[in-house]
Amino acid sequence: MSNMWSSALIGVLGLTQIAAGAPGAPATSTKQCVELRVPVPVVALNHHYIMPRVDSNIDAIDWTVNVTTWSNPTAAERVTGDVSVDRTFNINAQLCVPSQKGAKADILQIATHGLGFDKRYFDVEVKPAEYSYVNAAVKKGYSILTYDRLGTGKSEKPDAYDLVQIPTEIEILAGLTKLARSGKLISSSKILSTSSNTTIPDVKPSKVVHVGHSFGSFLVALMLSKYGTLSDGAILSSFLLTKLPMIDVLHYDHDFARQHDPVRFAEYGSGYFVLNTESCLQKLFFRKGAFEPELLSYTNKIKQPEAVGTYASEGTSSFAPAAQFKGPIQLFNGEFDNFICNGDCRGVYDKETTEFLFPGSKITPYLQPNTGHALNVATNASAGYQVMLQYLDSNGL
Ligand SMILES: *[C@@H]1O[C@H](CO)[C@@H](O)[C@H](O)[C@H]1NC(C)=O
Ligand SMILES: *[C@@H]1O[C@H](CO)[C@@H](O)[C@H](O)[C@H]1NC(C)=O
Ligand SMILES: *[C@@H]1O[C@H](CO)[C@@H](O)[C@H](O)[C@H]1NC(C)=O
Repeated sequence: MSNMWSSALIGVLGLTQIAAGAPGAPATSTKQCVELRVPVPVVALNHHYIMPRVDSNIDAIDWTVNVTTWSNPTAAERVTGDVSVDRTFNINAQLCVPSQKGAKADILQIATHGLGFDKRYFDVEVKPAEYSYVNAAVKKGYSILTYDRLGTGKSEKPDAYDLVQIPTEIEILAGLTKLARSGKLISSSKILSTSSNTTIPDVKPSKVVHVGHSFGSFLVALMLSKYGTLSDGAILSSFLLTKLPMIDVLHYDHDFARQHDPVRFAEYGSGYFVLNTESCLQKLFFRKGAFEPELLSYTNKIKQPEAVGTYASEGTSSFAPAAQFKGPIQLFNGEFDNFICNGDCRGVYDKETTEFLFPGSKITPYLQPNTGHALNVATNASAGYQVMLQYLDSNGL
C-alpha cells in the first residue's frame, strides 16, 4: 500500500522514500521581548488536491478516513493542478533579546513550532523558569525569534485547502530568516507590544541557528535543503528519520475547529481542524511519569488548529539533500516518543539516510531520557535545554 496520506504529520518522513556551557550573557540577563506583525512576501507553488471539505466534526473524521482508506488515491494522485502563491502573509512573531549583551549577542535563534501548538511551545507560560526555552536561551545570551506558523496562533488564517501548504510555509521561514539576516526585521514590521520600555534595536545577526519541533523541524529540514546558506546550525527536536512504520492520521482525533470552540476559534474557517481531547494530546505528546498534569491541561488550553492543506501537502513533499548547508545538526528526541518512533526511539535512528540528506553536516542524535514527543512541556525540559544550548556552544554557536 502506498498511501502517503496514512503517514501525515512528521510520519511522512518515513514514507517520502527520499526521495551548560561556556558563559554567554551574565546570569542576571533577562529577556526583553517585542511582539511583531511581520509582513512576509511569499512566492511559492502549492497544489490543489481533491479531498473532502471539512465544515463540521463529522466532516473532520470523514476527511481522515477518506485520506487513509487504502483503496483511495494517494496525495500525489489527488493533485489536479498547481496553485501559484504570490502574496504577503502577516506573521505574528516574538523577538526576545537578553537585557545585557554577552558573548552570544549576535547569534539569533529562529524557532518553528510543530502541529497543534503555536509559538508558546517555545515560551511556555506555566513555570517559565523551568519550561520556557526562550528564557533558557536568553539566559545564555542568545536572541530568539519565535513565530506562529501560517494558519495558527495570531498569524493570518488564509484558505486552509490551497494556501496553507508546505511550499508556502517553507518560504515563510526562509522569508523571516532573510529579513532577520538583513537587519530589517523590526523596521519592516508593526510593533504590537513590548515587554519593557526599552526599545529593541534591529541588529544584523552574524549567525542564525534554526530550531524546530516536530513538523516545525520537518519545515526547517526542507528549508535547509532549499536554502542551506541561510542557516549556521540546527536543532531538530522530535524529528528522527527511522525505518519504522509511523502512526498515521487515524490516530489523531480531530474536530472542526469552529465547532469545537466557536468563541476561541471564531476566526478559523472551512478546512481547519483541531485535536479534540486531552486524551488525544496525551496519546500523541506525553508520557506518563514524565509530565505534570497541569502541563497537559495547559497544552489543551493553548492548542491550535491546523489546515487540511498542511496535511495534504505532506504527502507530496520530499527531501533533496541539503547540499549547501554546512552547519551542525542536533537531533534532539524524547526516548519514548509515541509520535515519531511508535513509542520507542531507542535503536531506530536511520543514520545512513540522515547523512545522505545532510552531507555537509556533523549530525548528533540525542535521546532525552524517559520523555515523549512534546519535550518542552515534559518535566525534565530544562535539563534538556541545557543539552541543546551546550551543543550549540561546543560547536561555536
Ligand atoms: C473521498 O473524498 C473524495 C472528495 O470529496 C470523494 O470524491 C470520494 O468519493 C471520497 N471517497 C470515499 C471512499 O469516501
Ligand atoms: C513603562 O513606563 C511607564 C511610564 O514611565 C511605567 O509606568 C511602566 O511601569 C513601565 N513598564 C515597564 C514594563 O517597565
Ligand atoms: C533529565 O535530562 C538530562 C539531560 O538529558 C539527563 O541527563 C537526566 O538523566 C534526565 N533526568 C531524568 C530523571 O530523566
